[in-house]
Amino acid sequence: MGTLLIRGGRVVDPSQGIDRIDDVLVRDGLVVAIGHAGTQPIGKADETIDATGLIVTPGLIDMHVHLREPGREEDETIETGTKAALAGGFTSVVCIPNTEPPIDTQSTVEFIHQKAARADTCNVFVVGCVSRNREGKELADIGQLVEAGAVAFSDDGAPVYDAELMRRALEYCRMFDKPILAHEEVLELSRGGVMNEGLVSMVLGLTGMPAAAEEVMIGRDIALAEVTGGRLHVMHVSTAGGVDLIRAAKARGARVTGEACPHHFTLTDEALRGFDSNAKMSPPLRTAADVEAIIAGLADGTLDCIATDHAPHAREKKMLELDRAPFGILGLETAVGLSVTRLVATGRIGWPRLVEAMSTLPARILGLNRGTLRPGAVADITLIDPDRSWQVNVHAFQSKSVNSPFHGWTLKGRAVATIVGGRVKYRLGSE
Ligand code: DOR
Repeated sequence: MGTLLIRGGRVVDPSQGIDRIDDVLVRDGLVVAIGHAGTQPIGKADETIDATGLIVTPGLIDMHVHLREPGREEDETIETGTKAALAGGFTSVVCIPNTEPPIDTQSTVEFIHQKAARADTCNVFVVGCVSRNREGKELADIGQLVEAGAVAFSDDGAPVYDAELMRRALEYCRMFDKPILAHEEVLELSRGGVMNEGLVSMVLGLTGMPAAAEEVMIGRDIALAEVTGGRLHVMHVSTAGGVDLIRAAKARGARVTGEACPHHFTLTDEALRGFDSNAKMSPPLRTAADVEAIIAGLADGTLDCIATDHAPHAREKKMLELDRAPFGILGLETAVGLSVTRLVATGRIGWPRLVEAMSTLPARILGLNRGTLRPGAVADITLIDPDRSWQVNVHAFQSKSVNSPFHGWTLKGRAVATIVGGRVKYRLGSE
């Protein structure tokens, strides 16, 4: 495979406490060293990338991605979704099992792995279902799914509704040291809702989903995590109350982690005023106070990660009226731009915290041997231009779908190269 030298970039690797201008040397798919000392002379590298002015990070990991295959290839496929990931700067995605059929058997996990190998794009890690067929009635064969390579368990798209089942799932997953990725929603409270319940839903005359629908379930699952000692990861936290619950649970020592999605720290329910179904997702966009709480939660580490909840839906499905259109928006190709624009450029968080939220901690939570540029690590590396202004154009996306509310937005910060296992898989401008 040869050697690759990434020269003169700002290397940000929180796993080693590194934030300095330096070189990264890669040989045969692995990181050999950071810095000049002990590395080969520059002239010996087979390929050199000038990273002057760029941020060089351990490859970004999106731990919440709907790849839709098998069963909904009209929305996305493993190939198109992972190409979108590469274009967004992600070297790894973690796919959520609400496919058709759901990923609840060893053979479905193997199918995903095979398709991902054939696509030969970024790494794909697989989440298995908590319950058989995602029906919430009995546990899936968790041990078998772990054996097949599942890195976590989730019935996302829906909560694990039965509290006793959730308790057993936490207990069982604890034996394998795997987290449960939880979609938190009390369905009686959110039923029929299309957006956040509040002033805007009232003005628009639309049925709302109250913050309490999310918070009551977060509270239940934290209690169950504490009683079982199991690991709970709260997905797409959207409310200030949810952030507070996780902060308090962490202070008590509960094994709880949380994630925020870029749309939840960028938009409010005001985005629904135009009845745009591209602003419809679950949990919904909330209020300005919630957005502020999510950003504060990311800044103080209450919310460990940024994950996109990349949820492609074919154009004809999203073109329906608001109450009939499905929940979900694209995330992979706008995540870096939104995060840099909303969090870093505004001074709310620094680069090391951003890299921690998008690489180091997703790897740690899921036990992946990724998220670091330590010598000997797999050379998954992302190069980001922190100053590049660019305009979001959904028609230029690699994704098969176009359901993004950010079309036409000007963002700052963009991945310019994505390196997977030492191979340059994406370069901005050469796709
Ligand atoms: O907006 C969402 N879309 N939220 C979910 O929980 C599921 C996802 C999907 O699968 O489309």
